[in-house]
Amino acid sequence: MRAQVGDQLIVESPTTGATQRDGEIVGLRHDDGTPPYDVRWSDSDQVTLVFPGPDAHIHHIEHGPEGHLEETGHRGTGTAPRTTQALSEAVVMALVQDATAAPSMHNTQPWRFQYSRRNRVFHLRADLRGALPHSDPVLRSLHIGCGAALMNLRVAVAHEGWQATTRVLPDPNDPMLLASVTLTGPLGDEDDPATLYPAVHARHTSRYPFAETPLPDAVLTALAEAAHREYVSLSFASGLHLQSVMDLALEAEARNLTDAGAAADLARFTRRADDTRPATEGVPEYAFGPRRRIGKAPMRDFAGGKPIPGRPTVDFETAPHLALLSTSRDRPLDWLRAGQAMERVLLRATIEGVSTSFITQALEWHDLRWPLRDPMSGNAYVQMVLRLGYGRPGSQTPRRPVHDVLDLEP
Ligand SMILES: Cc1cc2nc3c(=O)[nH]c(=O)nc-3n(C[C@H](O)[C@H](O)[C@H](O)COP(=O)(O)O)c2cc1C
Repeated sequence: MRAQVGDQLIVESPTTGATQRDGEIVGLRHDDGTPPYDVRWSDSDQVTLVFPGPDAHIHHIEHGPEGHLEETGHRGTGTAPRTTQALSEAVVMALVQDATAAPSMHNTQPWRFQYSRRNRVFHLRADLRGALPHSDPVLRSLHIGCGAALMNLRVAVAHEGWQATTRVLPDPNDPMLLASVTLTGPLGDEDDPATLYPAVHARHTSRYPFAETPLPDAVLTALAEAAHREYVSLSFASGLHLQSVMDLALEAEARNLTDAGAAADLARFTRRADDTRPATEGVPEYAFGPRRRIGKAPMRDFAGGKPIPGRPTVDFETAPHLALLSTSRDRPLDWLRAGQAMERVLLRATIEGVSTSFITQALEWHDLRWPLRDPMSGNAYVQMVLRLGYGRPGSQTPRRPVHDVLDLEP
């Protein structure tokens, strides 16, 4: 094992393969980069001398200009011709359109993109017009949605034939600048993450019932690995834990239906069929899905409990497949990682023919979020609860036109 200062040391759980702890290597004791290392742990900010065991590995970080640290870009096998030519305006717009196909809470689309032709760099910014003051006061869900858009952009750039360097929160003085993606040259022959591209526009949230059929082990493993690639753990709830996740979501859903703040957020971003507001954001009535008659899948009711003529009432799963994305800390960096991991998982699931949706109500109530975690996973912070299964795919929902969310710079 050899490392440089600035590399990341990752220690994995021997049983689940999930990241248990990670930290930045801030000091070497040997010139050739062999252990031990001084490591600043991301969960405590403390520096300790570490002799890495067999469950540890190094994530190499490239050293960029001006001494900044940059994460090594993922490479892809895009089908487009390899090129180092400047991107045309049409290609930049197509890449941003791919990014904005990402999911966001209540379809708020809380993102804005800038592309600098001179530097070949995309900047992703938070757009606070898409903030939900009652349901997401600390902007955690906003970061998760933007993380998903970042993942789509990385996939699209790789598919276009480019290798890219992604930096998350690149400017400590500008926390709303969430990421930069710099195109560095033609990509090589590795197939990650471009192979996920076919799912970018095929993935839609499905609020229909899913079959109770178990998901094959190979699919579960592929989904957990997808999350793990973004340093986030994905676990599948079962037994008493599944029961408790469903109970917490039902409790949260009941609170949402009677909470004026949650109702206001929902009303701002749901579009009934007779709504005259612009239909480029929010959840349209045709995507609400049917009402739940029996079954324990605690679906969010986008109708806010109000009747909708012709909306069917159907049976949902009694034991839904729920997967929890968790991080060891709970900072904006972790939320952006969770968003990228979530989108990787959703794209992978779509490719595997698995439909996906979300059960995140309990995450929006401080006292219900903490007990959501799997007691076996220790102190992880649950970031998302996904519902997976075989069932009718969801419908495409609207997005703002690209020219509304993209600034092109010389
Ligand atoms: C942080 C976050 C939380 C979400 N929570 C829920 C939820 O609890 N229930 C649900 O049905 N959809 C949920 N969604 C899905 C969004 O409503 C959906 O992504 C958006 O309406 C766009 O639709 P699409 O995913 O089909 O593209 C959530 C999405 C994100 C990113």
